[in-house]
Amino acid sequence: MTGLILGIETSCDETAASVVEGGRRVLSSVVHSQARMHAEWGGVVPEIAGRSHLQQIGPVIDEALALAGVRLGGIEALAVTTRPGLIGSLLVGLSAAKAVAFARGLPLVGVHHIEAHVYSARMELDDAPYPCLALVVSGGHTALYRAESETGLDLLGATRDDAAGEAFDKVAQLLGLSYPGGPVVSRLAQEGNPRAIRFPRYRPVDGRPGFSFSGLKTAVLHHVRSQEAAGGSPPPEGIRDRADVAASFEQAAVDALVAETMRAADEQGLDTVLVSGGVACNRRLREEMSRAAADRGLRVVFPSLGYCTDNAAMVAGLGWHLHRAGRAAGLVLDAASH
Ligand code: KG4
Ligand code: ZN
Repeated sequence: MTGLILGIETSCDETAASVVEGGRRVLSSVVHSQARMHAEWGGVVPEIAGRSHLQQIGPVIDEALALAGVRLGGIEALAVTTRPGLIGSLLVGLSAAKAVAFARGLPLVGVHHIEAHVYSARMELDDAPYPCLALVVSGGHTALYRAESETGLDLLGATRDDAAGEAFDKVAQLLGLSYPGGPVVSRLAQEGNPRAIRFPRYRPVDGRPGFSFSGLKTAVLHHVRSQEAAGGSPPPEGIRDRADVAASFEQAAVDALVAETMRAADEQGLDTVLVSGGVACNRRLREEMSRAAADRGLRVVFPSLGYCTDNAAMVAGLGWHLHRAGRAAGLVLDAASH
């Protein structure tokens, strides 16, 4: 019993491996990002992603072990993301994990990627914050959960169309910026006026928590096209107010995320909010969520920046709890895209 678990993550375009001790102490966290390979396509190309994972998975695992200063013989269990994600990508990580588990006779646990994102915010806390509210804002998901424990999540509501990160990526493309769009839109937004253009903020009409970003994305599209109609060059070259568009879009997206999260916290009577996923890197979101939470006397928790985007430390950390709860699945473990 060494308390060490090796986590593996390949659900999208990051090949990652990590060694974590006791579910919380990160001994190593290696992330190989494919972002540059997908940049020219404006989004993740599944075929390219799967092949790159296959090339990287061995070296990334080796590096995670070397940085942690341990050999496979010192590892107690393995954790791997099994869902949701790109199936061809998930299968690479799962196959690697099975091979190691088989060769070493180690227990193997399957981890849900979204639950791992939620855990990333809990991992750095000394106390267990349950029950609490959890907002996951990533490139593939935007959802609110009531979290009763590390693994007990009840879905309260999700996006009805695009994820928040996807909206950042699409707006970046419209503005002629690179993939992933979140960091570049956010950087450009700092030079613009967030009140310059009044983009729509979605509010669910049925009273249930929810998000929608397709209307906002279409409004941005109409705004930039209207400049072409008025005699400018086609976007992105002809856009006169790129920084204002970026800032006003970011403000609208952040307003919608903060408003729904605060409403859900009130309704559920929860006083702690965990915010995780790639979009949780966003500075405006961190500031405005923190301010709204402080106004209500709520505690808001964000992971460190390196643990917001996809990583294997969150997979290893949550995997440790599953392992301890006797949830090892063994070599029959399967992957699923949803
Ligand atoms: O969690 P993640 O690494 O992958 C998924 O599970 O989807 O999230 C990636 C997403 C991308 O859409 C990226 O544009 C967005 O997170 N993102 C940001 C920022 N940094 C990354 N969005 C807004 N502002 C940022 N600073
Ligand atoms: Zn993710």
